[in-house]
Parts: sequence; structure tokens; C-alpha cells
Amino acid sequence: MKRRTPVYINIPIVLGLLIIVFYMFSQSSDFLSSKFFLGTALISIVVVFIQGAIGDLIENEKFKKLTDTEKATYISDKKVPYFQYLWNGAFKSQSEKEEKDILIDHGFDGIMELDNQLPKWWLGLFYFGVAYCILYVSSYFLTDFAHPYKEYEQEYREQTAAINEYMSTVTQPTLETAVFSEDNVEAGKAVFETNCVSCHGEGGKGGIGPNLTDNFWINQPEKTLYKTVFWMVENGSPNNPTMQAWGKNGVVSGFDMQNVAAYVYHINQEQAPITPAQGGAAPQGTEAHWEKTK
Ligand code: HEC
Repeated sequence: MKRRTPVYINIPIVLGLLIIVFYMFSQSSDFLSSKFFLGTALISIVVVFIQGAIGDLIENEKFKKLTDTEKATYISDKKVPYFQYLWNGAFKSQSEKEEKDILIDHGFDGIMELDNQLPKWWLGLFYFGVAYCILYVSSYFLTDFAHPYKEYEQEYREQTAAINEYMSTVTQPTLETAVFSEDNVEAGKAVFETNCVSCHGEGGKGGIGPNLTDNFWINQPEKTLYKTVFWMVENGSPNNPTMQAWGKNGVVSGFDMQNVAAYVYHINQEQAPITPAQGGAAPQGTEAHWEKTK
């Protein structure tokens, strides 16, 4: 009589499968505390117990029909702990008589082949693999599971939301608090290329808007160059609406103003001016005498 898998092994197997299936469909571990999962797990455990009990009944019936010697071997076999039984089974070699029964005849090449039964664990894994494959493919096509684009979109949305939340809680730089930093120049360049380059030209050489690399300025609302740029981007030009109030209109954030001001400072003070001879716009306004503090 074959030995059955004990209930205490079936329960973790069933729970493990349940967790895999639930995880596949919910894509997070939150389900572990959901009533639906706990209920399903409880029912599954009860079913495992019932299956175990029915198995016991059948085993008892079969036991009654055994001969006395069979009964004795059955009882002594049962005393071996389950894992030891599995271990022994894995290394058991066939007796000569058993080999004869499962020998496949290869008369033509003389190779001896035994038609062994596949091990249970192997069959179990195989059927699990088939079932998992069906589940995977069907959930791939019928649900959102495992779609790289959907996962990407989801993550993108979550990250944008996280950034927005961070931006709404963090205090944005203002005209008073903003300070020049070399680290912001690169980020400022990106802001400039998105918002400003259409009028102020490549590298700030000027066009519709003035050349931002020379030392001549129409507007000089602040004493330092850095603050002047910040002020201009925040408030726009008081005389020329073409240069809009980017900050006040909510087009660029305090961080963007801080960064783009650093970029304009960089191209004005840390690089040579782009002169008309080099394709830059002619100076406009009056010569500036900026205070040295940034
Ligand atoms: C639609 C065209 C346009 C865009 C876009 C634009 N500007 Fe201007 N900007 C101007 C004009 C025109 C002036 C001159 C204003 C005046 O005459 O008072 C100006 C002036 C300025 C000044 C002062 C220059 C001076 O000599 O007084 C700064 C600094 C400046 N812009 C920075 C920026 C930055 C930074 C951006 C991007 C966030 C930007 N501008 C986007 C057209 C533009």
C-alpha cells in the first residue's frame, strides 16, 4: 500500500500555491491581511483536513483486506518518519525481479532500458509547471499582470505623484532665499532650453529677447546679477510684456527660477560674452555694475 503525504506537508504546499496565485493577481503583498485571502486559506486548510480524513478511511478499509504479513510490513513501514521514507525512496535501487518487470527490450542495440516510474516529486513539479503556465498565460492576456508597459506607466504615475507631493510640502526658493550654486547650472540649462531659448537664443546670445551674455541690461531691479535674473523671471519685464512673469504666472517653479538664474549667471559671468561679431545680439540697456556677492 502506498504511503500518503501527511496533512502537515499538504497544508504548506496548498498555502504556498495560494500565495503565488494571489500575488500574481494583486501584485502586492497587501492581500495577506485581506479577508478574501484569509477566508480562502481557511477553507483550503479545512479541505486538506477532509481529504486527509477520507484518505484515512480508505486506508483503513484497504488495511483490513491485507494478509497478516502485509499488515506487519505496513505497520513497520509506517513507523519510519515521512522525510526519512522520502529519502530512502530517492536512493532505493530496484531488486533484480523488479528490474525484469520494467525492462524494455532493445534487442537491436543491446542497451538495457528500465521503464521506471517517474518520481512523485518530479511529476508534482511537472504538473505544477503546466498549471502555472496556463495560469500565467491566461492572466497575461486577460489581466494587467506582467505587462511591462502597464507596470512602467504605473510606476511613472506613482513617481510623478511622489514628486508632486514632495514639491508641495517643500518650501520653494524665493527671491530672498535663492542663492547661486554651481550645482544648479546644469538643471538651469534644461529650464532655459525649454522656456527661454526661443527668444534669448542658443546659449543666451539674444534674439527677440536681449543678449544675456553681455554686461548691458535694460532692467536692473536688484543689485546683484543673480537676483536680477531671478526677479525678471519671477515678475517679467515691467515695460515689455513679451518677457512674461514666468514665476507669478505659475509657469516655472521656485526651483526652476533658482536654477535658470544660476545658468544665466554662469553664461554671463563665467563665460566670455557672445558678441555681435560672433552672431550675438547687440547690447541693449545700460552697462551694469553688479555687486560682487552672488
Ligand atoms: C517670448 C520671448 C521671451 C521668452 C520666452 C523669454 N524672454 Fe526674457 N526677455 C524677453 C524680452 C523681449 C526681454 C526684454 C524686456 C524689456 O525690454 O524690458 C526679456 C528680458 C529678459 C531679462 C532681462 C534682460 C535685460 O536686459 O533687462 C532676463 C534676465 C530674461 N529675459 C530672462 C529670461 C528667462 C530666464 C527666460 C526663460 C524662463 C526668458 N527670459 C524667456 C523675451 C523673452
